[in-house]
Amino acid sequence: MSDAPPSLPILIAPHASLKQRARPVLPSDAAEWRALVPRMFDAMYRAPGIGLAAPQVGSRLRLVVIDLMPGEKREPMVLINPEIMAVSAEQATREEGCLSLPGQYADVTRPAEVRVRFLDEAGAKRDLSAEGLLAACLQHEIDHLDGVLFVDHLSTLKRNMIMRRLAKELRLKDL
Ligand code: NI
Repeated sequence: MSDAPPSLPILIAPHASLKQRARPVLPSDAAEWRALVPRMFDAMYRAPGIGLAAPQVGSRLRLVVIDLMPGEKREPMVLINPEIMAVSAEQATREEGCLSLPGQYADVTRPAEVRVRFLDEAGAKRDLSAEGLLAACLQHEIDHLDGVLFVDHLSTLKRNMIMRRLAKELRLKDL
């Protein structure tokens, strides 16, 4: 038996909490987010995934964890109150998935480069410019803090198709 708390369940769409806007992390939230961060990484690595936002585990805090695992090595990033400060005019399309929509993937078009400002785990202000997978991941996770899922970037037709397929696959799994 381990003393670690049980793994955090990841909420699955269309859970209402995934559509809510998260609120800024305040200094008085330190105990809450410090306890949450290792459990979010644990849930993300187990899934496995490369990013997880606090609303996906039922928290209202503007908090994101990311690890792109470059070269299979862990490189965890914690982003508190992340904000997109600038985006490129150039767009990029890549296939996205989401731990809250297990097994569902679609091409999503977003700005190719972003500049993001956030506080790190030590409370230091950070400015990060990103392109490629990290740029898409940052935008995807920050979207979660505003109640936006990757399917919300698709046409209604495509979104409905994915949501119906997800519901069907989850029903079949429960049989
Ligand atoms: Ni997601």
